[in-house]
Amino acid sequence: MKTILITGGAGFIGSHVVRRFVKKYPEYKIINLDKLTYAGNLANLHDIENSPNYEFIRVDIVDAEVIAGIFNKYRFDGIIHLAAESHVDRSISNPMEFILTNIVGTVNLLNAARTIWENNLANKVFYHISTDEVYGSLGETGYFFETSSYDPRSPYSASKASSDHLVRAYFHTYKLPIIISNCSNNYGPYQFPEKLIPLSINNIRNNNTIPIYGKGENIRDWLYVEDHANAIDLLFHKGRVGETYNIGGNNEWKNIDLIRKLCEIMDQKLGRAEGTSAQLITFVKDRAGHDIRYAINAEKIQKELGWNPSLQFEKGIEKTVEWYLANEEWLENVTSGEYQKYYEKQYIKR
Ligand code: NAD
Ligand code: TYD
Repeated sequence: MKTILITGGAGFIGSHVVRRFVKKYPEYKIINLDKLTYAGNLANLHDIENSPNYEFIRVDIVDAEVIAGIFNKYRFDGIIHLAAESHVDRSISNPMEFILTNIVGTVNLLNAARTIWENNLANKVFYHISTDEVYGSLGETGYFFETSSYDPRSPYSASKASSDHLVRAYFHTYKLPIIISNCSNNYGPYQFPEKLIPLSINNIRNNNTIPIYGKGENIRDWLYVEDHANAIDLLFHKGRVGETYNIGGNNEWKNIDLIRKLCEIMDQKLGRAEGTSAQLITFVKDRAGHDIRYAINAEKIQKELGWNPSLQFEKGIEKTVEWYLANEEWLENVTSGEYQKYYEKQYIKR
């Protein structure tokens, strides 16, 4: 039986990856390490929390000693590292949290992996999950390739870029078996409603304004979260050690067009007259250093592993809206902070 570490498994993408691995690989023991920041929510994993091949440990990856102790105890065979501070706006108001978790935390994991694997690197992998934002901002044309130079422009993307460099450095310097993937914007169930799509769904539902930064002309490439989880599964098992892979939806949207589409769907689902939700759109002050356009060339993973996005955006966004409307209690809990009591109730035995 292999023991696989997934960090950040209580977050948005991490919870999809944990669920997938726990269900699909009963021969793996999945250990989910998560600090449970505001973005970590164990209710995201409610359906699998009692599975015999799953264990949750609350830990801050910035704490090197605790991390070393856990690695020593569990002797992981593979690591999928998703834990991170992930929101650009928060990185603008508080960069230090991003430096600590995304850079120092990643180095702590690299060091701990090096220590336990020192004499036996065969069949091990340290898989680091990163973002397309490390490549910076594109103009109207062009794509990010794995070979594009790094040009991060927000504290978030700069901290992720640093961690990518360090992960690669450990491959070259210490031969640590690493894989990195850089993915475009994800959307889908369990995303914290601070990011554009769930924030807008929640605001429309509550008849609150939808804040669009600047003129809404910035472009993002959107991928359904399950398609990312599928790519992570493939790369973890079949990716080439030392390599970087781009993952993207080939699905570019201007923010304003995406929000108009979302408003149409919300009107239909909520039984509102056409055009009602769009009246909530409000243009607000632009984000500082707002990247204009992201677009991924994902040919490498397509050619090497046959990966392709499975869901058309129109279908994915409709499914996403349906999920949030069917899970209003989840939304209420995360917006009220109620979910933070879940850990105490579920895990602190009195
Ligand atoms: P998220 O913010 O939803 O979840 C992050 C998780 O990490 C949370 O559960 C949080 O509690 C945990 N965490 C934060 N700091 C920690 C610490 N110090 N110690 C232990 N756990 C800690 O993030 P997400 O959107 O699921 O992103 C997951 C990963 O994927 C990140 O590395 C992010 O950079 C990357 N990524 C995200 C996107 C996207 O669109 N969301 C796209 C590409 C890459
Ligand atoms: P976001 O979901 O924060 O992801 P990222 O910044 O990592 O791409 O934002 C997506 C896009 O939406 C980005 O161009 C910023 C914009 N945006 C808004 O216009 N209004 C909002 O309230 C938010 C959160 C984002």
